[in-house]
Amino acid sequence: MSDFIKTGVIGHPISHSKSPIIHNYWIQKYGLTGSYEAIDLSCENLEQGLRKLIDEGFTGFNVTVPHKISVMSVCDSIDNVANTIGAINTISVKGGKLHGTNTDAYGLLENLIKQTKIKDFVKIHPLILGAGGAARSALYALQKAGCKTVKITNRTQERAEALADGKNGVEVINWENRDKSLGDVNLLINTTSLGMIGQNSLEMGLYASKSDLIVYDIVYNPLMTDLLQQAKAKNLKYVTGIGMLLHQAQPAFEQWFGIKPEVTKELEDLVL
Ligand code: ATR
Repeated sequence: MSDFIKTGVIGHPISHSKSPIIHNYWIQKYGLTGSYEAIDLSCENLEQGLRKLIDEGFTGFNVTVPHKISVMSVCDSIDNVANTIGAINTISVKGGKLHGTNTDAYGLLENLIKQTKIKDFVKIHPLILGAGGAARSALYALQKAGCKTVKITNRTQERAEALADGKNGVEVINWENRDKSLGDVNLLINTTSLGMIGQNSLEMGLYASKSDLIVYDIVYNPLMTDLLQQAKAKNLKYVTGIGMLLHQAQPAFEQWFGIKPEVTKELEDLVL
């Protein structure tokens, strides 16, 4: 049993997580001996809970809401990506030490490239809706990919300003002006939870958009959010959020199991 690899996702609440479906599908598909569980850890119990899981033999974790930032203080090392984004979503345990990274930016970009075939990001001028953890990953990914100008807008403007602070080419737009700002952007990314089932709707009109606007919503529940339905009705290119979820799981799985798993339509259908 020594080759058995124990992994899981920690969060609170956690029952909604789709990650066990993804990772257990791959474990089975590649004939590996291992497991991936959803584990509920409260904020108060984060460090102690993690240590207990490691004692039980866990060697890999995904980290989700609300622990992505607080877990940084529990890790023994944090790579550059996670440090720059300011959040961790993947941990590997080696010799009892916790190594944190972040694969959200990779997932967001990989999905975008696969769906749109964008080759030259210098020509891409995005507007990011939101300034939370997902927005930080989006900004990191887009700048790394080559975007020279990025606009950010957020209900709480100070958060957008804090995110833009000190970064070249990043401009903050007033939340009230978000619709009107579409005239000079060609990629719109919603990183807020607005539009998700059970959340408020995202009020974002696409009337000012140009015909080459690509609309990307990281919400995947529902898959076709109101924003994406508007984009479709206007014959704009659009990107759904499910691919980000699947692609952020890919490098995490590879770290723990040593195999780069494939993101397939079959897996997407299973998760949806
Ligand atoms: P995550 O790490 O998943 O991005 P987060 O840090 O809680 O989560 O960020 C949620 C984002 O959704 C924020 O940009 C938030 O705006 P505020 O910074 O003003 O809170 C945005 N958001 C959530 N509810 C919203 C609402 N009703 N209207 C506008 N924006 C909202």
